[in-house]
Amino acid sequence: MQRLFGMSALSVMLTLAAGAMILSGDRAVGQTNPCASKSVNPGAAKAANPCAPKPAANPCAGKPEVDSKLILRPKATNLAEGNRAQLIKQGQALFNDTKLSTNGMSCMNCHADNANFAASFTTPYPHRMAMAAEKSGVEQVRLDEAIQFCMIVPMQAKPLSWSSRELSALTAYMGELQTAVRKETAGATGSKSANPCAPQAANPCAPKK
Ligand code: HEC
Repeated sequence: MQRLFGMSALSVMLTLAAGAMILSGDRAVGQTNPCASKSVNPGAAKAANPCAPKPAANPCAGKPEVDSKLILRPKATNLAEGNRAQLIKQGQALFNDTKLSTNGMSCMNCHADNANFAASFTTPYPHRMAMAAEKSGVEQVRLDEAIQFCMIVPMQAKPLSWSSRELSALTAYMGELQTAVRKETAGATGSKSANPCAPQAANPCAPKK
């Protein structure tokens, strides 16, 4: 008798538990799926679809398409002239200047210790710059045009005025840097090879600290 009673009590409990599970299961279907099509109140104003894909926020993506007109120097436009030594000096300062960008970057953030230059950098201009070809369809860039590209995409800023002292200064400085890198690369093919223990360049696409 005891045993029988015990069993029936157990089965009652099991039945209750199963009932509760079904109930809560029913509720879950109706309420927790935010992507389920809503049938309630068809007259209500439509809220934004929470399931729509969000635009990607890659800080290095820049604009998906860059107008090649912004990259290519207009014909008959020349860079500002000036004393080369002074231009180089000013260019070096600008290279470190975060005010040139809208995202807190300076050229130095990506190009410290000559990081992030493709092998093409050491070949004479004009030449192909992969990123410019990809994003703006420009097959060949001059040095000043490569700088304008970096102004627009990685620096997320407006291109510099073609006749500005700033662009001329950056171009002069980058020209010096190109010569230095070229010499370094030429040296590296001899006995001096790249130091495998050198610290890795910072990822230019990592969010700023
Ligand atoms: C967020 C990173 C980033 C910043 C900031 C940046 N650059 Fe670059 N830059 C790159 C990368 C990546 C490349 C290599 C692109 C390629 O070769 O396709 C490059 C390439 C270049 C090149 C060489 C192109 C070539 O191969 O001839 C020059 C010159 C240059 N940058 C100048 C600058 C200057 C000047 C600034 C500042 C106004 C700047 N960059 C800021 C990432 C950056």
